[in-house]
Amino acid sequence: MLGGVDDGARDTAQMLEMLDAAYESGTRAICLTPHFNPAYFGDTSAVSESVFAQLHEYASERYADMRLYLGNELFYYDGCVNALVSGACRTLNGTRYVLVDFNFDTPFLRIRAALRDLLSSGYIPVFAHVERYECIKPPFRELMELREMGIKIQINSTSLCGGWGRGIQKKTVKLLKKYIPDVLASDAHSTGTRHPRLDECESIVSELCGNDYADAIMHTEPSKIIGIN
Ligand SMILES: [Fe+2]
Repeated sequence: MLGGVDDGARDTAQMLEMLDAAYESGTRAICLTPHFNPAYFGDTSAVSESVFAQLHEYASERYADMRLYLGNELFYYDGCVNALVSGACRTLNGTRYVLVDFNFDTPFLRIRAALRDLLSSGYIPVFAHVERYECIKPPFRELMELREMGIKIQINSTSLCGGWGRGIQKKTVKLLKKYIPDVLASDAHSTGTRHPRLDECESIVSELCGNDYADAIMHTEPSKIIGIN
């Protein structure tokens, strides 16, 4: 959502439009997670902070009950723990939780080893958009194993709403029907297909799995993870 930082909002105007859309759809707390991938986006930590401050100012002027927090989405690479330790890469709102992603064709054994590396360094990985990986397939034994290790499983609203095609959408529904995801989030990048509105998604999850589970993965668990309970 932060404008001009990575492949998210292209500029300030789109960023503010995204915040307005999120608020209008009922969202009252957002943890902004710009990509942390120095090889691809360069060092964006300073610009992320200043754009976040700008967004924060806009939000506090207009929306008294909107809360904003900062984190990163860490694209895993060997040695990335150093970036977490130094603070160059942010955990989710300064907690022990780290949102982490990989290339979509990464083999499961490599993903598991990477997540173990983060765990053994004292962090709790939130494995981002699990539905988008080739190696993650029904009956999702791999994900059960990761959950047993203490890893949090996250899915995207875009996937559930069909933005990545029928196959990914079906996989996301299967994940929900097995009550595997711990968190559902927007992964908003713009005001287009990857938009920040979560209201449609909340209705779908409620219909598929009931209001309690929808509330758990869209409110309670994300709040716990970013430490705002
Ligand atoms: Fe990602």
